[in-house]
Amino acid sequence: MSLLERLFGRPKLMIEALGPRHAARVSVLHATSFAYGWDQPEVARMLSDPSILSDGVFSGQSRQPCGFVMSRLAADEAEILTICIDPAHRGRGLGHLLLERHLAQLVRRGVATLFLEVEDNNAPALALYGAFRFAKVGERPGYYPKPDGTRALALILRRDLG
Ligand SMILES: CC(C)(COP(=O)(O)OP(=O)(O)OC[C@H]1O[C@@H](n2cnc3c(N)ncnc32)[C@H](O)[C@@H]1OP(=O)(O)O)[C@@H](O)C(=O)NCCC(=O)NCCS
Repeated sequence: MSLLERLFGRPKLMIEALGPRHAARVSVLHATSFAYGWDQPEVARMLSDPSILSDGVFSGQSRQPCGFVMSRLAADEAEILTICIDPAHRGRGLGHLLLERHLAQLVRRGVATLFLEVEDNNAPALALYGAFRFAKVGERPGYYPKPDGTRALALILRRDLG
């Protein structure tokens, strides 16, 4: 904890880079949001990977994030691998704040073009990406396996950061 944090306490909301120490929490957050899991060792590897930029949002005094976003960087392009917010904290602007800070970090790292894939019926995610002016550039039919055995369409979205 920094001296400022000791004197004045932690701000109510913080966005911070994540590291391997957050792997257990990130794995749980991912499992609450998606049918397919990222196990803890896999998440720890991703959080140590220098080509992956990971940011978390922290609420109150908690030392563990209540949401995170990860992007893989390659030259001046990046792909958002995932973003998720703890269900108990959704709908309060945390996803928006987290993505806003994450995009700023990507720009600082020299990323000019950002891509992501999203299920075509994921209304909250589409609203979030729409707010940041992501545009549809492609489709992958039958991409996401669904619990009922069907497969859902993935949309490929792009946003220029330059
Ligand atoms: C997508 C997700 C990260 C959004 O996080 P959040 O903190 O709830 O989002 P915010 O409160 O910042 O809202 C962001 C935008 O989405 C809209 N939104 C939020 N929940 C919504 C809902 N249930 N239906 C429609 N729009 C919704 C908000 O109105 C807001 O739009 P605005 O910026 O134009 O005002 C969150 O719903 C989540 O974790 N979902 C499960 C994981 C997931 O699907 N991730 C995306 C994978 S591609």
